[in-house]
Amino acid sequence: TAPVTASAAAVASVPPASAPWVPIPNAEDFFFRQVANFSLLIRALVFREYLDLVHVVSGSVQAAGAGNNYSLLLRAADRTNGAVGRYQTVVWGVPGSRDWTWKVVSFQRVADKN
Ligand SMILES: *[C@@H]1O[C@H](CO)[C@@H](O)[C@H](O)[C@H]1NC(C)=O
Ligand SMILES: *[C@@H]1O[C@H](CO)[C@@H](O)[C@H](O)[C@H]1NC(C)=O
Repeated sequence: TAPVTASAAAVASVPPASAPWVPIPNAEDFFFRQVANFSLLIRALVFREYLDLVHVVSGSVQAAGAGNNYSLLLRAADRTNGAVGRYQTVVWGVPGSRDWTWKVVSFQRVADKN
């Protein structure tokens, strides 16, 4: 029965796929601006798209493995022409851990109004 026990333990360590998204009431907090800036930094490094954070509009958080997924709606200014757009990103990370353990799950521009 050892393999059954092992797989049961492995399954127990993975949160359910249906872990709820919990709205962030304080999306303007320093921590969420840091998370947003991390996403923009990766965007610059990988896609050479240079965006400066204007502010975090709203967000929600979901338990995911050892950390959390952060889904953030943000406004950012294109460094080449100053145009401000809205962007939606999902970032995974463990609060308090180093940058290299974080990762951008998704990033996309969204319509200016939604
Ligand atoms: C995020 O980036 C903006 C623009 O690059 C910068 O002004 C701000 O200090 C950064 N905020 C944090 C919390 O890192
Ligand atoms: C949450 O994070 C995990 C781990 O990075 C990722 O595989 C998954 O796609 C994320 N979930 C959502 C809904 O983005």
